[in-house]
Amino acid sequence: MSSTIVDGLSYPVIVSDDAAPDVAAAVEHGAPVVVFADARVRARARRIVGALRARGARVLGSLFVRGGERGKSVRGAQSLWQDLLRLGADRSTTLVAVGGGSITDLAGFASATYMRGIAWIAVPTTVLGMADAAIGGKTAIDLPQGKNLAGAFWPPRAVVADLNALRTLAVRERATGIAEIIKAAIIADPGLLDLVERTDVAETDIAAWRELIVRAARVKVGVVAADPQERGVRAALNLGHTIGHAVEHVARGALSHGAAVSVGLRGAGLLAVRLGMFAPSDHARILAALRGAGLPLYWSPPGRGRRPLAKRDEDRVLQTLRRDKKRSGGSVQFVLPERIGEVRYAVAIDVQLVRDAVRQCAKPPQVEETME
Ligand SMILES: NC(=O)c1ccc[n+]([C@@H]2O[C@H](COP(=O)([O-])OP(=O)(O)OC[C@H]3O[C@@H](n4cnc5c(N)ncnc54)[C@H](O)[C@@H]3O)[C@@H](O)[C@H]2O)c1
Ligand SMILES: [Zn+2]
Repeated sequence: MSSTIVDGLSYPVIVSDDAAPDVAAAVEHGAPVVVFADARVRARARRIVGALRARGARVLGSLFVRGGERGKSVRGAQSLWQDLLRLGADRSTTLVAVGGGSITDLAGFASATYMRGIAWIAVPTTVLGMADAAIGGKTAIDLPQGKNLAGAFWPPRAVVADLNALRTLAVRERATGIAEIIKAAIIADPGLLDLVERTDVAETDIAAWRELIVRAARVKVGVVAADPQERGVRAALNLGHTIGHAVEHVARGALSHGAAVSVGLRGAGLLAVRLGMFAPSDHARILAALRGAGLPLYWSPPGRGRRPLAKRDEDRVLQTLRRDKKRSGGSVQFVLPERIGEVRYAVAIDVQLVRDAVRQCAKPPQVEETME
């Protein structure tokens, strides 16, 4: 069993084969603890409870819920607050959240607000959670009007990625994680892209995942450490998410988050190439890496079968995109790649150029774009 610590924040980010002993070590002897977990990782959560008890923690109870975006709601938060109350949790209690980003976002938010704030530990069990969502102290729930509209900056006491949990994670969820890892590589780690190119997503080898996740987590930690409250450079983490979020929204569930980010990364690359700030060969390389991970390079609007993008679909994508907080006047703010390993953020792009990129992202790339 092995653990790697990623330094840089005020709390440890640990990538571990088995999170149980690391979580137990992060809790004081005799401290009250509640474990809140995705029912899909019940066995992993039980291991953590066992380790906590063995180290003398007072486990008040374990709560299992269905993971996923729907639980990240006012209702989800309310039931968690009420369960904490029922279990006798007070301000000295630590909440241990075991699951993907939906669970750590919800539990982090509930921790920030329960009795004006209690300690929590994030135990991510998805690639996306380990590489991205559980790190950085941003917590949130969704409102019917949109994602992450109520939340708080509330850093955990520790993040302990549980690599062995990945054995049960669906290939589609792994691919979503890879999209974010490719994003991290473009932001700050060119070597990470080489590593992705050599990885098979269906790969279950924990050692291979460990390296990818540690490298991506380093990128996230570095960006967050430089800008914990998102006043500037942290915006770089939105790479691929401007067009990505808009097509994810318009596709109404037909596109996974990773698939949408993949299309969004292509969109950002296209804009950067168009502006002459990014080499077409680097853009082609990213497309190949995305495709190699089984991610799509284009999307189709909702409806029966694959239909071409109509003007009204384009309008909807643009409307959604401009409703996003990144808008300003007749332009949209983008994060764009300059080189693999370097991005520029807050680049104002004319809406017409964005429209062209959106249109292009609804079709497979031509040979000029992939350079094949
Ligand atoms: N706070 C942040 O900074 C931040 C950053 C990025 C994303 N996010 C949030 O993260 C969420 C997405 O995270 P996610 O992709 O991990 O989603 P998720 O929690 O919904 O997990 C995805 C699916 O995998 C299942 N699952 C989780 N772990 C598993 C395992 N080990 N084995 C089998 N199944 C497992 C879940 O039940 C769910 O069905 C979004 O809500 C997003 O807004 C937050
Ligand atoms: Zn994302």
